[in-house]
Amino acid sequence: MIIGVPKEIKTEENRVALTPAGALELTKRGHEVYVQSTAGAGSGFEDQDYEAAGARILPTIKDVYDKAEMIMKVKEPIEAEYDLIREDQLLFTYFHFASYEPLTRAMIKSKAVCLAYETVELPDRSLPLLVPMSEVAGRMAIQEGAKYLEKPSGGRGVLLGGVPGVRPGQVLVLGGGVVGTQAAKMAAGLGAQVIIMDISLSRLRYLADVMPANVQTVYSNEYNIRHYIKEADLIVGAVLIPGAKAPNLITRDMLKEMHAGTVLVDVAVDQGGCIETCRPTTHSDPTFVIDDVLHYCVANMPGAVPYTSTIALTNATLPYAIQLAGKGWQQACRESEPLKKGLNVVRGKVVYKGVAEAFDLPLDPVDDCLK
Ligand SMILES: NC(=O)c1ccc[n+]([C@@H]2O[C@H](COP(=O)([O-])OP(=O)(O)OC[C@H]3O[C@@H](n4cnc5c(N)ncnc54)[C@H](O)[C@@H]3O)[C@@H](O)[C@H]2O)c1
Repeated sequence: MIIGVPKEIKTEENRVALTPAGALELTKRGHEVYVQSTAGAGSGFEDQDYEAAGARILPTIKDVYDKAEMIMKVKEPIEAEYDLIREDQLLFTYFHFASYEPLTRAMIKSKAVCLAYETVELPDRSLPLLVPMSEVAGRMAIQEGAKYLEKPSGGRGVLLGGVPGVRPGQVLVLGGGVVGTQAAKMAAGLGAQVIIMDISLSRLRYLADVMPANVQTVYSNEYNIRHYIKEADLIVGAVLIPGAKAPNLITRDMLKEMHAGTVLVDVAVDQGGCIETCRPTTHSDPTFVIDDVLHYCVANMPGAVPYTSTIALTNATLPYAIQLAGKGWQQACRESEPLKKGLNVVRGKVVYKGVAEAFDLPLDPVDDCLK
């Protein structure tokens, strides 16, 4: 198959969909790989690295789209790319269709085959191409939180690990899924005292088993949240209710109960946030203060660490890309239920329920496009 990797053109996006290691895996299987010049530069990969792995470099984004049967990307296509996409071309990338109708309509019009990273789903209902970014964001939440707890950054002036004779920082993590678990582990590793809350007792049992002694599990309810926010130096929002807006676990009135200089990192901001006063921010202007409480609500946290994020993402996407390239998308989706779940818009038809429902569009049976 002919595979194309364009450079991401969305603002602040430095990740790339394929590393030189991935290019080598594809070329050694007999596929042709075309990478747009400097596509990997933001993640630390040079054109020569791709060439050494057997890929060829093309000068413009148009050249890549013109050439490729399968396009591998990170972010959804933006408007400037809509007209480059061809009928029957396979696009393997994050789309998040349900959040943006013009993209959905443009992809229907293009008659391309849109396989979305975010809906590839394993039998246990986990989302293997979202997990790596949650792992990055969870770990980063503590790194950023620690930074903003420093006085010159606007925080309380607390060192998370403390020192002998001084109580360590108090960290409260709301939600014990992928983000919350990684955040709790990082905070514990720095020596902080950590409370992690969830509404799933089985998840709390698991966390109580695997976490170090400086992490305590507490059931998530308003009473407990009101109690623990008073002591917390750093609070991480990491709840998710699939397909819904995150619940507001911390309401505006609660900010007054916190110490001045407490830092809130609401990782769930991309689903509306679990802190009422949170609104999406960017890496260039990541924080704001309300009632003396510092809010960090960057919606694309992994974007700040593109080297790590690119490798984490491509470790997860490459095995699927190899299947798609080797078998063609139809055969690959017939044989792999997780990949089939990734099909969202195929040759002008919406085949994913959540997308059809979001914009009141007709839903076509996914199996019809695999015949
Ligand atoms: N900002 C970013 O850059 C970024 C990056 C990656 C992920 N995220 C977001 O982070 C959020 C968490 O993702 P995840 O992968 O950890 O999800 P997950 O499904 O693994 O975990 C969510 C957890 O929240 C728990 N939960 C639900 N309601 C709760 C409540 N009322 N109180 C406490 N816990 C509750 C669930 O039981 C679950 O364990 C998502 O919104 C995701 O989109 C953001």
